[in-house]
Amino acid sequence: MKNIFEFAEAFFQLTDVDDKLALTHQAWHTYTTGDLTFSSDQPVLPIDQVIFPERPELLAPRQMPRRKLTTPDGVAAFFHAIAHVEFVAIYLAWNILYRFRGMPEQFYRDWLRVADEEAQHFALIRAHLRAMQLDYGDLPAHSGLWDHAKDTADDLPGRLAMVPRCMEARGLDVTPALIEKFRARGDDASVAILTRILTDEVGHVELGSYWFKFVCQQRGFDAEAKYRELIDQYYVGGKPKGPFNRELRKMAGFSDAELDWLEC
Ligand SMILES: [Fe+2]
Ligand SMILES: [Fe+2]
Repeated sequence: MKNIFEFAEAFFQLTDVDDKLALTHQAWHTYTTGDLTFSSDQPVLPIDQVIFPERPELLAPRQMPRRKLTTPDGVAAFFHAIAHVEFVAIYLAWNILYRFRGMPEQFYRDWLRVADEEAQHFALIRAHLRAMQLDYGDLPAHSGLWDHAKDTADDLPGRLAMVPRCMEARGLDVTPALIEKFRARGDDASVAILTRILTDEVGHVELGSYWFKFVCQQRGFDAEAKYRELIDQYYVGGKPKGPFNRELRKMAGFSDAELDWLEC
């Protein structure tokens, strides 16, 4: 296989977690050797043809058991939830590059690199979970993460606003405090993994900002006004709630005006 969109379709149709990871790395490797092709005249398949593995069981967020970081089981459940976030993030990266055609080749390369990094994040967390005698799929996971993809299946500015510039940006707000909690407890392995992920995630949100501004300019939208409009349209419950990490969000392409609007 040499075509990026064929790789994407194969990713969505595989049922096994390890096969999905291997395929993602194989696609990235094909790109690095210069063999990946980026054009296709095949139609884009509907978003509901995406297959998730049988496990974990997916529950609505309010059905998810509460977890506390004060017990070993709570820590394991927390990392299971993070594993699921990373797993869905692989799908989200593949999905944005698969669905939205006609962009510059750099767009496809950028999100393929993100898919490969998300697959690395997932593998790091899964190894960490296994060291805690838990595996991905042993606990239920929450079904809401993929909803943003379905809601914005045909809306590229909406997808960029909701996924990298909302969901992933949330990670920039909350992860530093989590790292400090694990550091205070002397849990160096957790600190190392979360720090590595945070560094990469600043880059993912930054790409989201870059491509958001690119499509806004292409379509004649004012990017800041469009961002507010899309959050109003897609974000359930009004607006994301803070506190926001202004420093990391600014590194990742948020403007002061956007951050002021989120905070007000
Ligand atoms: Fe990630
Ligand atoms: Fe990410």
